[in-house]
Amino acid sequence: MLADLDEAPPGAVIILHACAHNPTGIDPTQEQWTELANLLEKKKLFPLFDSAYQGFASGDPDRDAWAVRYFVQRGFELFTCQSFAKNFGLYCERAGNLTVVQKHGATKAAVHSQMTLLIRGQYSNPPAYGARIVSKVLNTPELRKEWMQSIQTMSSRIREMRKALRDKLVALGTPGNWDHIVNQIGMFSYTGLNESQVRVLINDFHIYLLRTGRINMCGLNTGNIEYVAKAIHAAVTGAGATASCPCDNKL
Ligand SMILES: *[C@@H]1O[C@H](CO)[C@@H](O)[C@H](O)[C@H]1NC(C)=O
Ligand SMILES: *[C@@H]1O[C@H](CO)[C@@H](O)[C@H](O)[C@H]1NC(C)=O
Repeated sequence: MLADLDEAPPGAVIILHACAHNPTGIDPTQEQWTELANLLEKKKLFPLFDSAYQGFASGDPDRDAWAVRYFVQRGFELFTCQSFAKNFGLYCERAGNLTVVQKHGATKAAVHSQMTLLIRGQYSNPPAYGARIVSKVLNTPELRKEWMQSIQTMSSRIREMRKALRDKLVALGTPGNWDHIVNQIGMFSYTGLNESQVRVLINDFHIYLLRTGRINMCGLNTGNIEYVAKAIHAAVTGAGATASCPCDNKL
């Protein structure tokens, strides 16, 4: 990543995922963020943070905002696009927030007028209801507390499923190392399964995932994890169609 960014021309906008990287589930460590900041500073690159999962990664919105705050504290000018689609369950309401961090008050009017032009040309008026829900929840102490508990529940459930899947694959003796499933964070996991193994999961077991091997951890629950682990085992060991399939399809 550093080598690639080192090739970028000065002024290039670099999109960074604030937390719970999609699609890999691999977030930089704080030391790695520091190195990224050093490089962006040196090369005069412009960070744009895409923050779509705040609170969903660690369960703590402050902790998940660490990278953004760190860059601001280092004196970067930047944009942060926050989405509330996932952490507020508002997928269809287009609820988000753009934060523009500038060093000089003097450029404020210029940025504002550019934003106004873009907005006017693109959507003119944003949908209001989702944003009102977010605002109401975050500005009402009891609701805010309930929301904090909800994202804690959601993120710890995902972490439990990661652990359960890793443990089951280890117990089954599935060839390979599965620690990455627990080391990755957020909704997604790069399983490391290749395209032919993915095809086995889809065709023989009706488990749907991307060709890259990316799975959405939210789809796992205590009722299906055993089935998924056995299917992955079958896909990796080439046992494919012979493994028992509770969905009773003709393999
Ligand atoms: C939206 O961004 C502004 C700054 O641009 C900030 O003051 C406000 O708290 C943000 N709202 C939310 C819900 O994060
Ligand atoms: C996937 O991995 C298996 C096991 O290593 C291998 O036999 C197969 O050829 C691979 N398929 C692709 C598309 O790389």
